[in-house]
Amino acid sequence: MRIGILTAGGDCPGLNAVIRAITRKGIQEGDNIIGILHGWKGMLTAQHEELTLRSVSGLIHRGGTILHTSRTNPFKEEGGGKKVVGTFQRLNLDALVAVGGDDTLNVASRLFEEFDLPVVGVPKTIDNDLKGTDVTFGFDTAVSIVTEAIDRLHTTAESHDRVMVVEVMGRHTGWIAVHAGLAGGADIILIPERPFDLDEVAEVILARHAIGKDFSIVVVAEGAAVKTSDHVGPIIANGDEKKVDEFGHVRLGGVGHYLAREIEKRTGFETRVTVLGHIQRGGTPTARDRILATFFGVKAHDLVREGRFGMMAAMVGGRIDAVPIKEAIREVKSVDMEFFRVAEIFFG
Ligand code: F6P
Repeated sequence: MRIGILTAGGDCPGLNAVIRAITRKGIQEGDNIIGILHGWKGMLTAQHEELTLRSVSGLIHRGGTILHTSRTNPFKEEGGGKKVVGTFQRLNLDALVAVGGDDTLNVASRLFEEFDLPVVGVPKTIDNDLKGTDVTFGFDTAVSIVTEAIDRLHTTAESHDRVMVVEVMGRHTGWIAVHAGLAGGADIILIPERPFDLDEVAEVILARHAIGKDFSIVVVAEGAAVKTSDHVGPIIANGDEKKVDEFGHVRLGGVGHYLAREIEKRTGFETRVTVLGHIQRGGTPTARDRILATFFGVKAHDLVREGRFGMMAAMVGGRIDAVPIKEAIREVKSVDMEFFRVAEIFFG
């Protein structure tokens, strides 16, 4: 078979491990693997290159994606869906594997449902917010990076008696914030699923000081929802409020600085901010993410070979499985509140 593969949306540690797995297994079974460059943009422009054993050698530990990525939405363009189908035919493909988060998989699902394109999905996102799978690769790496950052920030927080606010990624959900916050011993964790009140945050910090804990670590997800008298929702204060990507997402960021100002105002304690940003998506994947990405890649190739199109590789109940892409993207997977309640025991 001639199998196309593309990576779309934000880069994520483990993408290269998926590309390697599909290429290695595909070639072993006599397939040709065609790398589509720059995500869905490559399916509009036909930018591609054949992947060989040589081109995927030494790849498992490398972050990013050798195929490059973009946030291109082919359906934003008039006739974009048909154009993708045209490229698919021109490149003589028999199947396409789309590796991405909810936006990418939404495009894949539409191409399958509306154009009968033989597509298989592989879920990726550091945010871990895809419903159809227990976990996505990239998440473990991001949690490890954030946990290490919190450990390091503890040093300064304790030495200077400061409040340290750490802004982490998490557009719709607080998975990274809650996991890394719990692992790093955060004193407060603020997430999109639980709108927060600034006075309550200040009270927790003041109560810590009252018992002799003169420093605090506050972890806030970039999409955390703030409750004020006239607003419940995310705070975007980075000058990029008007920048929207092709899927309609605004560029988040700024809640950390906003929060620090408000904490300092209410408590009088010196408060500093660290915005971890893309550091959370960069560098080498953890062993766990390399393994998960490899298993997803192998499963995606199986699905192609079995002709199970419209399906996505997934981890379900701890086992590698397949779920319909349509189901997987139906809704966002919010933070497990049982987990949050455990993290909450250690607030304050
Ligand atoms: O979807 C993953 C993610 O890292 C989000 O947490 C974040 O809001 C977004 O990507 C940032 O994307 P970009 O790098 O394109 O600005």
